[in-house]
Amino acid sequence: MHSTGTLRIQDLTAEERAVYATLKPERLPEHVAIIMDGNGRWAGQRSLKRFLGHQQGAKTVQQVTETAARIGLPWLTLYAFSLENNLRRPKSEVSFLMRLLKSYLENNVQRMLDNNVRLKYIGRTHELPDEVQEKMRWAEQATARNTGTTLTLALNYGGRSELVDAFRGLAVEMKQKHINPDHITEEDIHRHLYTAHMPDPDLLIRTSGEMRLSNYLLWQVAYTEIFVTERLWPDFRGLHLLEAIADFQLRERRYGGLGEGSGAVDEEAERAKIAAV
Ligand code: FPP
Repeated sequence: MHSTGTLRIQDLTAEERAVYATLKPERLPEHVAIIMDGNGRWAGQRSLKRFLGHQQGAKTVQQVTETAARIGLPWLTLYAFSLENNLRRPKSEVSFLMRLLKSYLENNVQRMLDNNVRLKYIGRTHELPDEVQEKMRWAEQATARNTGTTLTLALNYGGRSELVDAFRGLAVEMKQKHINPDHITEEDIHRHLYTAHMPDPDLLIRTSGEMRLSNYLLWQVAYTEIFVTERLWPDFRGLHLLEAIADFQLRERRYGGLGEGSGAVDEEAERAKIAAV
């Protein structure tokens, strides 16, 4: 299923429209996930405090989301705050990120409504400060009826802890329904993930050059195409999202099969001919 939102190509910038014109509309990804990295380095390069990099990063979140909404991307999932960020960053930085998230939601819900964007979250969000959770619920409810892009913020998220939570949920279900472990399927695990309601990402973008998954959507990225750019997150724009999609469209996705142009079909025909002799 592709987006139920309306395309607003006319609202793209001229540069974005030029890249969009090169895309094959029938091969747009359904789900793009992004590891937003490099806020600290962006600030460091300008001799600014790290928090100014995060502040600029929050502006980028909104700009990229609006481009995604204009091209009718159904799902955009951003790694905004990891479990590891929560545990390993100085308390002052964590509390700044929490305040930034609150003010981001306060200041951008109207723009989400204007762009038909629905907000959702994944992660152990119940461990976040109460006032942050309240603001999150408010923003989610305010945008719940939007039908365009679903922007999912991964907050206090870790891929392994998501799997732990999924297995816990599945274990409870198995006990209640007396399910034999031999009957567990991949679909059963999928049903218990935070992302049960969405397709797996087609494209994962990571900014600032690091070649790591950093515990992001570990189950879901099994067949995802990965695009790494040196660009730091605060410098990333909708234009770069479109460029990443253009690159994605050049890839051949094989899902463990042989794919087109492998000669597999010709070989099959050859074998049939030999067998017929
Ligand atoms: C990495 O930069 C980014 C994060 C810690 C999380 C992303 C946060 C934002 C984009 C801002 C807030 C988001 C919202 C939704 C309000 P880094 O500090 O790891 O950069 P570095 O590796 O250069 O130090």
